[in-house]
Amino acid sequence: MWKQHKNLQTNPVLSAQATAYLEPTHPDAPQPQAVHDKLARYANSVVNTYARPPVIFTRGKGLYLYDSQNREYLDISAGIAVNALGHSDAQVAKVMGEQAAKLFHNSNLYHNEWSGELAHLLTTLTKQHGGLGYAPNSPTDGPGLKVFFANSGTEANEGALKFARVHGKQASADKIELVCFNNAFHGRSMGGLSVTSNPKYQDPFAPLVPGVKVGDINDIHGLQTLVTEKTCGVIIEPVQGEGGIHNVDIEFLKALRKRCNEVGAVLIYDEIQCGLFRSTDMWAHSALPAETHPDLITMAKPLANGFPIGAIMMRDNVANHVSPGMHGTTFGGSPLSTCIAHHVLTRMSQLPDLKERATVLKTRLSGLASAYPDLIKSDIRGRGFLLGVPFKDTAHPGRALALARERGLLILTAGSDAVRIVPSLTISEEEINKACDIFEAVLEVMRKELA
Ligand SMILES: Cc1ncc(COP(=O)(O)O)c(C=O)c1O
Repeated sequence: MWKQHKNLQTNPVLSAQATAYLEPTHPDAPQPQAVHDKLARYANSVVNTYARPPVIFTRGKGLYLYDSQNREYLDISAGIAVNALGHSDAQVAKVMGEQAAKLFHNSNLYHNEWSGELAHLLTTLTKQHGGLGYAPNSPTDGPGLKVFFANSGTEANEGALKFARVHGKQASADKIELVCFNNAFHGRSMGGLSVTSNPKYQDPFAPLVPGVKVGDINDIHGLQTLVTEKTCGVIIEPVQGEGGIHNVDIEFLKALRKRCNEVGAVLIYDEIQCGLFRSTDMWAHSALPAETHPDLITMAKPLANGFPIGAIMMRDNVANHVSPGMHGTTFGGSPLSTCIAHHVLTRMSQLPDLKERATVLKTRLSGLASAYPDLIKSDIRGRGFLLGVPFKDTAHPGRALALARERGLLILTAGSDAVRIVPSLTISEEEINKACDIFEAVLEVMRKELA
């Protein structure tokens, strides 16, 4: 199906470094018999929910992953925007080991040493960096924000939707509607899925939670009828991730905030993918004016660098409606997950040169976009270290992903048309350049396949 026209002239702008990656260095096939046999055995026992390449990863270090043949891959997918501090970070492993030896679970029936500390750190840093109504460098003392710990992003969103319902019902019994947006992704539980308006994910599991309305991001005029007196909560990603890396306009967020104020709806920002410094600010909304700020945010992915954790942070006016016994979890907020997250969050908040390195990445990718206009549709989308390269042909992101992997580079797709780049936040300039060299070679191969 993908035929390469070898005689076609190489793109004159192809860099000398990229030429080293024109041929596959990490072919998917043939696999050693042992790998083949293992995968065949796993297929007998594992539910068929994931389409995976025939590679088994066995270890990682920093930006690199190694497969069972010890082949080295540069990973700019970071376990889907999770490993912000890179793979198998030695300090994270040390903190994890020490806390595991001390206490890793004691239930939410009792306090532990770490969940309150992590909540305090999250609220303090948010007041310092700006977010949830606080301007940057706000005083950090006292109440104002509260945190609930869950185990995943989906679970954080599930809790957020429940808290919005509780808040709405205080005003009126029929204030129960939820609003979400096309191209959003909020998770796969019944609640999360109900506000993830994508037939591919929803149809097999319908009927879903009733009372959900779907709008379009950046459609200011539509807000009047979308968000009404019956709306208890509106959930939105300030930069859409899975759905294709789509930026949400500041003016739209201002109008949305205003409309939520008018009808008394809880505004929820799902910052699971775009938050926690991925945008290069603590939250994707930290750098935006306070008139765009939400009442509640959800977070997960990088919070403990890959150890499962999710969290909901809300203003006191939402938290005040929640009382003991209303919501809970066995594992959420365990001393182990929150101790690791406290360490990871502290380090993420001190990462040097984030904005500078993100600019290097965006500049390189923008150059590739203009060098390959036959393949790439428009400007690079997204912010900071959450970037999308939009392709003209919807078959091409998947093709690029496979070609990149066979050249030792791990990337992701997003939505129908984009390659998604979400590296560890520790990525060096050298690693950015190497990743872009390989990606450039991939584009060149695709250009020849297209001819
Ligand atoms: C924006 C957003 N919300 C929610 C989720 C679901 O999180 P999890 O997979 O941890 O349940 C994701 C996962 O990709 C996400 O990107």
